[in-house]
Amino acid sequence: MVNSMLQKGAPPMQRLEIPVISYHARTATFMAAQGFYPSPDGIYRDAAARSYATVLTGTPHPTAHARTWGCQMNEADSENLRGQLQQMGYADSASGEDADVILLNTCAVRGTAAEHALGEIGRLKQLKTERPDLLLGVCGCLTQMPETVEYLRRHAPHVDLIFGTNNLHDLPGLLQRAYRDEAQTIDIWAQAPETVEDLPARRGGGVKAWVNIIYGCDKFCTYCIVPTTRGRERSRRPGDVLAEVERLAGEGYREVTLLGQNVNSYGHDLGDYDFADLLRDVAQVPGIRWIRYTTSHPRDFTLKMVQTISDHSQVCEHFHLPVQCGSDKVLRWMNRGYSRAQYLELVGHVRRLLPHAAITTDIIVGFPRETEDDFQQTLELVREVGYDNAFTFQYSPRAGTPAARWEDPVPPGVKKDRLDRLNALQYATSRRKNEALVGSTQEVLIEGGSRKDPEVLTARTRGNRLVLVPRVLGAENHFGLARVTEAQTWTLHGELVRVEQGA
Ligand code: 5AD
Ligand code: SF4
Repeated sequence: MVNSMLQKGAPPMQRLEIPVISYHARTATFMAAQGFYPSPDGIYRDAAARSYATVLTGTPHPTAHARTWGCQMNEADSENLRGQLQQMGYADSASGEDADVILLNTCAVRGTAAEHALGEIGRLKQLKTERPDLLLGVCGCLTQMPETVEYLRRHAPHVDLIFGTNNLHDLPGLLQRAYRDEAQTIDIWAQAPETVEDLPARRGGGVKAWVNIIYGCDKFCTYCIVPTTRGRERSRRPGDVLAEVERLAGEGYREVTLLGQNVNSYGHDLGDYDFADLLRDVAQVPGIRWIRYTTSHPRDFTLKMVQTISDHSQVCEHFHLPVQCGSDKVLRWMNRGYSRAQYLELVGHVRRLLPHAAITTDIIVGFPRETEDDFQQTLELVREVGYDNAFTFQYSPRAGTPAARWEDPVPPGVKKDRLDRLNALQYATSRRKNEALVGSTQEVLIEGGSRKDPEVLTARTRGNRLVLVPRVLGAENHFGLARVTEAQTWTLHGELVRVEQGA
């Protein structure tokens, strides 16, 4: 297994079950049919030099705003929406309240995320009444669920445009139809008929960039709506991923995060090329100093992958290994595909090869029919692994998933109590782990001013810990060294002892 990691050579071609198309080629054809061509500023304009957005809105300086709920995949999608809006000629409106176009990119993974987005849609009714020219669009995972579309159709006629995760690359045409048609424009594709390359992105992360490597999920965990909202797994071709990373490095990006619902199954549809091979090849791209990846599935996380991470200093030693539960019985009900022992074996490989790696996880409490004994096994596992951090959730039934149909005798109060007990344990562990770093010096990538205090900069360690440091002029977007002086449960405080010049 380890040997194949060392084999170099040209990545194989994708088995072309799902065709690959170019966003630029497709959009250029559509735009040309409307009489628009790209200008030197990258914006599609007509013969009178009016941008596509100006023609759509009838205003000289149109603006747009995209708001995001949910995971990094949604954040990356929103960057692609903003990139397309920019090419159409919309300027970015930070607040959104005065924007000509507002897009809400929604999340469906838990009821709370869905309710937040639906609440915001309701709140925007007032704005739409005040400004009937506002174009309000809703997209993302929620709209892939037929019941949401039905709800918006009946109860939110102020929403002009509803589209999904599989056709976000069609934004120029979707907006045209939404402006033109009197009725609500609804266009949802159940599956992605093709993988779209060269999507424009308006990125917001300084010298950090997201790079999608695999779309969709084939795991069908019984509680999870993602396979429905994101469709079947499809890997981008290694050459396309590497070309994007090289381009990003050339533009000055220094950290890339490889993205997918399950990055470890990357390449299952490609033949003899897997996630470890991709990490190895991305690590060869000059200029990319740090590589992260999210999110992982313990079932597909091979020893070869851990070994590759250990062998390449560019790959940050942070392992996000969502365990979900510590009981074998519940893991089976969840269809996770690993046992507690197999999970601990993976953690053992990580600890052996990278003893100082940060390990984080996701845990669901209150899965249907979870007993106190099952829950105790989760607590025991959390104690045994000693996670640096954990995202903990109370089980939320999602319509259309198998678990939502199962009998669930566990009262909500009991679930909440379990969540509180789990959180108490994890908070204490996170704090202890952070306290152990006081006095140490950590390699960090310095981000920008903190939200609360512009005189404080945020920085991230390789283990993805947040360190707050007093502002040093010109330090943003540079690597440096931070001495840790104080620890809290979620954050470290420290001071910059070195800021590298030239990123
Ligand atoms: N209820 C609660 N948590 C969920 N997650 C996914 N689906 C559900 C659900 N129905 C959690 C899992 C996953 C994380 C992204 O969200 O822990 O790893
Ligand atoms: Fe959902 Fe499971 Fe796929 Fe993760 S691996 S997105 S939890 S179905």
